[in-house]
Amino acid sequence: MEGANNHLVFYGNETLREIAREISNVDQETIDLIESMFNVMYGSRGIGLAAPQVGVSQRLLILDIESYKGPILALINPVITARSDKLGPYEEGCLSVPGINAMITRPLEISVKAVTPEGKEISFDARGLLARVLQHEIDHLDGKLFIDYLEDHDRKELTAELKKIKKLNKRK
Ligand code: NI
Repeated sequence: MEGANNHLVFYGNETLREIAREISNVDQETIDLIESMFNVMYGSRGIGLAAPQVGVSQRLLILDIESYKGPILALINPVITARSDKLGPYEEGCLSVPGINAMITRPLEISVKAVTPEGKEISFDARGLLARVLQHEIDHLDGKLFIDYLEDHDRKELTAELKKIKKLNKRK
């Protein structure tokens, strides 16, 4: 198998800025992709990962917040169907933007619908860390990164660091 799905892409990679396409049927390729994404995520000690982060422009995310008493999930075509009016800050980071953390304000509770790797449609409410990770990962499917939420002057301060991160894409 070609190695495209087996490593992270970083800030500056074009796939991270694309609107990922829906997965029309869950086949073995999808299952293999999920498995390699879990390998990449665990290998980098992450708690969430979206397919664009391994260079695959498909609407798929995984997360593992078991050590925070949360679930392990793989979700296909996830959609946020409702968001609480109540917002709150939380410090976010991203495997594709390594070394940078920032307080990001988002809705504290959301409702989500998605398809499971077994092809079953599910919907559920999420709050706390689960809601946070889901929103961060679903943003990835729409070409959005957490640093996009920063005020211009805060993002400007990161310019040098972001330039270094971009170069990680060229490392083989
Ligand atoms: Ni991320």
